[in-house]
Amino acid sequence: MIQMKNFSEQEYIRINKFIATNTKLSRRKVDEYILQGRVTINNITITDTGFKINPLKDKIRLDGELIRQSKRKVYILLNKPQKTITTVSDEKGRTTVVDLIKTKEKIFPIGRLDYDTSGLLILTNDGEFANRMMHPTYKIQKTYEVKLSKPLEEKHKNYLIKGIILNGRKTLPCKIEYFSKDDKRKIKITISEGKNRQVKRMFEKFGYKIFKLHRSKYGNLSLGKLNPGEWRYLTQKEVLKLQSLTLTNNKENAIRTK
Ligand code: URA
Repeated sequence: MIQMKNFSEQEYIRINKFIATNTKLSRRKVDEYILQGRVTINNITITDTGFKINPLKDKIRLDGELIRQSKRKVYILLNKPQKTITTVSDEKGRTTVVDLIKTKEKIFPIGRLDYDTSGLLILTNDGEFANRMMHPTYKIQKTYEVKLSKPLEEKHKNYLIKGIILNGRKTLPCKIEYFSKDDKRKIKITISEGKNRQVKRMFEKFGYKIFKLHRSKYGNLSLGKLNPGEWRYLTQKEVLKLQSLTLTNNKENAIRTK
């Protein structure tokens, strides 16, 4: 007699999706590990990245370590104050962005803002979402308010807008606006990539120092009324909107490259 399954098809998910969702690993990295034979299901090694598992019953291990299913996915919007470090823990005992947030879930920041940079930072326990937001193909736009050491010259502005060479690679085109015609030290820059210290390095290339750096927008999100150090959960609508943005941006890129 064929034994009836007592759980529905819907409860089966692909092993690579399960691992990516419940760890900080990207789907591509997970596939690599599966193919290398580092993943077991109920102690049996599998190398099929699309193998379907039942997270309620199967024991999935990576390098022998059990992967537990995270219960609740949380997405948090923080107004990062200056003098906080964008990590989960700091060996020097400095305040981390995670220290500022009271939640049971093991959250981590998506990308990073420097110690002296303030503004909009998203934290989550959803590894797949985080990887999507940070993946360069999706080109999520980020807006920074910058105070420079001297007025931004028109020719430098034009170079930066078109893209400049940093460490041998050209930056993507970006948008730059002045806050007012009378003070060209205060500008707003929107970039769609996130290399380490990118905004600072872009201006430093032309001899400007950065006196203040604040991220005011990330994709469709802005800080609203959150003061430095304050945070709130994102709504489901906001999370879906961010996710859909990656789909739209990806489609646009596909069209552009044709
Ligand atoms: N660019 C920088 O240089 N620093 C940040 O913190 C963010 C973007």
